[in-house]
Amino acid sequence: MLLNPTVLITGASAGIGRATALVLAQANATIIATARSNEALIELSKECAELGQPIRTLAGDLNDHDFIRALTLFAGEVDILINNAGVLTYAPILEIQPDDYVAMFNTNVFATLALTQAIAQGMLARGRGHLIMVTSTGAREVFPFAGAYCASKHAISAITRSLRLELQPKGIRVSEVAPGLVDTQIRKNNNHPEVLAAQAQRKTVPLTVADVANTIAHVALSQAPSGSIDFIELRPFIN
Ligand SMILES: NC(=O)c1ccc[n+]([C@@H]2O[C@H](COP(=O)([O-])OP(=O)(O)OC[C@H]3O[C@@H](n4cnc5c(N)ncnc54)[C@H](OP(=O)(O)O)[C@@H]3O)[C@@H](O)[C@H]2O)c1
Repeated sequence: MLLNPTVLITGASAGIGRATALVLAQANATIIATARSNEALIELSKECAELGQPIRTLAGDLNDHDFIRALTLFAGEVDILINNAGVLTYAPILEIQPDDYVAMFNTNVFATLALTQAIAQGMLARGRGHLIMVTSTGAREVFPFAGAYCASKHAISAITRSLRLELQPKGIRVSEVAPGLVDTQIRKNNNHPEVLAAQAQRKTVPLTVADVANTIAHVALSQAPSGSIDFIELRPFIN
């Protein structure tokens, strides 16, 4: 494996992505971090610099094709792309609003595909690279009030498996990391009473962002020379 890979990570301003950027920076990866919040990226950058691991950041919206082009140019040669950015709105399936389900498909599926298409071109030209997709346990099952989110994660998981079929023979690894429940900002965007009542009944003890970040870092840094970690599902213990 490459000793100091260049890693482009999306959704690095918060939660799992931020924690993953920190773990990989400390493992001497060259990090390019992106998200919409420039302020949060500057904070991450300062924290990495204090650890003696400078990173590069570029803020923008992955739903903007001009930004995807700019990010691709800014990033240059990327060894590992970690597609982590995502959004989630919980609501009963009959009540979820078009703005919300469209936003989930736009960010979780179409923007992820568009960035992957852009970055994978360079990987194909070099005959090597690694795409890591952060999906969810909701990529294989469905949960109450999360139907549209789970559908978006099923979709990006299907795209991930298609990418693997087409790109692995050309030297590009394609891995899917599917975590279960983690208490991050993504879950805070809820005010529907049924959703809040269900959350109050929750028994699962969530994973931590460190659990997920360390798993993603393992997938990024520990691939066998003649094999590939295709899929990891990381589930919280059942209590
Ligand atoms: N938390 C969980 O329980 C859980 C479980 C399984 C899978 N996941 C997946 O893990 C990934 C990270 O989630 P998280 O829990 O860490 O959530 P989070 O704390 O809300 O972080 C989401 C990240 O995505 C970025 N983002 C969202 N929309 C964007 C856009 N249009 N353009 C660019 N960046 C965008 C956000 O940054 P800005 O707001 O600054 O743009 C933020 O950095 C997601 O794909 C999520 O579906 C989460």
